[in-house]
Amino acid sequence: MGRFFLASLPLLGSLVSGLPGSYAPFQPVSSPRLPLQRRADNEICAITQPTTQAPHKNVWAGLTNRELSDAITFLFKDKELNLTEDGGKLRARSPVYARANLLFGATEEPYMEEFVVGPLPLSDSTAAHPLSFFSNRQKGSKIRVHDADFATDGDLSKAFLAEAADILKILWNVAPDGVQLVSSSPVQVENGQVTTWYGVEGKPKKMYDTGTLLPLGLYIRANITGRDTSKWAVDGWLYNDILYSSLDEFRKAVTAPGFKTLAPPTLVQPGAKRFSVDVENKFVSWMDFTFFVSDSRDLGVRLFDIRYKGKRILYELGMEEAMAHYAGQDPIQSGAVFLDTYFGGFGGQMVSLVNGYDCPAYSTYLNTTYVDGTTRKVRPNGICLFESDPGYPIQRHSGTGYTSITKNVVFTLRTVTTAGNYDYMTSYDFHLDGAVTIHVRASGFIQSAFYANNEEYGFKIHDDLSGSMHDHVITFKADFDIMGEKNSLQKVEFVPTTETYHWNGNKPRNTMKAKKSFITNEDDAKINFETNSPSIYAVVNKDELNKFGEAPGYRIHPAAGVIHLTVKDSSVGGKALNVANHHLYATKFKDTEVRGSSPYNLLDVEDPLVDFAKFQDSESLEQEDLVLWFNLGMHHIPHTGDLPNTVFSTAHTAMLIEPFNYLAGSPHRATKQMVQLTSKNGTTAITRYGATPANCAVSSSQLNPKPDENWSSTIAIRKNPYDGSQPDHIG
Ligand code: CU
Repeated sequence: MGRFFLASLPLLGSLVSGLPGSYAPFQPVSSPRLPLQRRADNEICAITQPTTQAPHKNVWAGLTNRELSDAITFLFKDKELNLTEDGGKLRARSPVYARANLLFGATEEPYMEEFVVGPLPLSDSTAAHPLSFFSNRQKGSKIRVHDADFATDGDLSKAFLAEAADILKILWNVAPDGVQLVSSSPVQVENGQVTTWYGVEGKPKKMYDTGTLLPLGLYIRANITGRDTSKWAVDGWLYNDILYSSLDEFRKAVTAPGFKTLAPPTLVQPGAKRFSVDVENKFVSWMDFTFFVSDSRDLGVRLFDIRYKGKRILYELGMEEAMAHYAGQDPIQSGAVFLDTYFGGFGGQMVSLVNGYDCPAYSTYLNTTYVDGTTRKVRPNGICLFESDPGYPIQRHSGTGYTSITKNVVFTLRTVTTAGNYDYMTSYDFHLDGAVTIHVRASGFIQSAFYANNEEYGFKIHDDLSGSMHDHVITFKADFDIMGEKNSLQKVEFVPTTETYHWNGNKPRNTMKAKKSFITNEDDAKINFETNSPSIYAVVNKDELNKFGEAPGYRIHPAAGVIHLTVKDSSVGGKALNVANHHLYATKFKDTEVRGSSPYNLLDVEDPLVDFAKFQDSESLEQEDLVLWFNLGMHHIPHTGDLPNTVFSTAHTAMLIEPFNYLAGSPHRATKQMVQLTSKNGTTAITRYGATPANCAVSSSQLNPKPDENWSSTIAIRKNPYDGSQPDHIG
């Protein structure tokens, strides 16, 4: 069977007419003259199109329909050519000869040859001749076509994708119809063998998706030699730069240990948990720490009466407000300040945690409850509690002939609030050394702007899109009680100095000193952590000196970047944002100063319900009940990596509260999770300190947890009026 292939029949104008320029020389045509008219001011403009006249017929135009039809008819009539129709779109005007590219597919070795047909219109003298003089090919004008039957490759690719369905599932969790193939061009011909490569791409799902941006890294080699397509076969699978000669070999590799999709390490709990929970009272005890958990619609989870070794260190610790302040050239970005306690509430927007993802599989989950209007609502699995190994020891030392080293462990209480586009993960980490770290991480969708004129407010991060710069400022309240309610705020500053020492002949020596002082007044307790962090701030009790005469306390300092609001006297947020102007504040506790902000602050920004600046009213901080207010946050200027979602690993801010002259000694000595290695004459001895070895098998439910274990949307359990028929809460 022959096929009429690619009927491109460009006009042979110069061939026919013999010489270019045999037509009348070009005569410039003057611009058409239009009458000059006076136009009344309110007259509608008439849109006119001037016309002109070409100096001669367009000899470069394509074939007319008639000429095309004649040429094709003629070619089909030619018994020698043995053509059949396979489609084609053509256009021409008035040449005498036409040019045709013909695929001769009826032979064992298909080839392409170009022909000239004419003169047209059809007459007795019309003939078709091979057109060879445009080609300077050494082997002649018949050119071998190795992929003449390639149109049938769809059947082949459908078959081999179906056979690889299990592998597609393992690698990308897709069925064969979830991918598409792109083939290499041209095909490769070597030693009579014809080979082509297919690349596997994700299949576009939306209108503006494109497969060219979705390569999956799997390439498939097919041998397509010969005209009998049933003999074509796949003979190579290339993945991660390894060529597998068969599907079975590839499958074996994909399912073998060590393949690139091997499950990552995960946290496991070897046996009984080492913390206890009073679910009814939401009371938690881990190692030397105890605390109560409280939850509310506005503020989410707060911790109360945090005790270490039986003594209270914090009466209250919790988030006050999560603010996002944007900037931009347009009125939306420039006018955007959000206080998340208002927009749905930090507790109201807490979500069920995803087992094995938000928290390790062995976590203990607690429900959160809050009142919304007249309804009490329960968020199942709103809180998780778990111990984990942070991946580094709490202590080590290598001396001559020995190494002593102690395992570390952290106890975490975690919640997630999805406040509109953003997900905030709040974690309270309790450490063996008596420290508490407060972490906030942000993920989810950024807010963005149209890119035009926003160069000074962000980066262009996608087509027509600018990431809007913004500050996240997340305020926490920490009501300290160190050895009682009466405390002071100590400042210890590292200062450069020039000193003289008599033992040095009183020669000036440039060195440094610790400058110790107390911040004694609220007005002075508006603190920014300075460049190079020279200052240590600690809440201490001057009335309960330790046996060395030092005031015991807890130090507070950033554990990961913290910020205050960049904008001064925000024109949008006004005084409503006053709590965000510094990193840290200390105030004297007052019954009227329970919250540093209010969910309703944005309703009147110049006279907000709580103007935090009014808290600084010159009250003494000397041995008073001190409350610290600190801000976590990030200066966020989204970059290309923020699309589609900002990631928790980088959008991270944290504050550390740690003992300062508070402990009798290093707390790592209290754990048995320690070994000492000693070496003598080439043999190593291990000393253990009574740690119980883990000797249980880890269940597959820990290794492959169910993400939806008790995951659920909100449950509303009580309505007004209360009829007593339903429980007050679900434990
Ligand atoms: Cu952000």
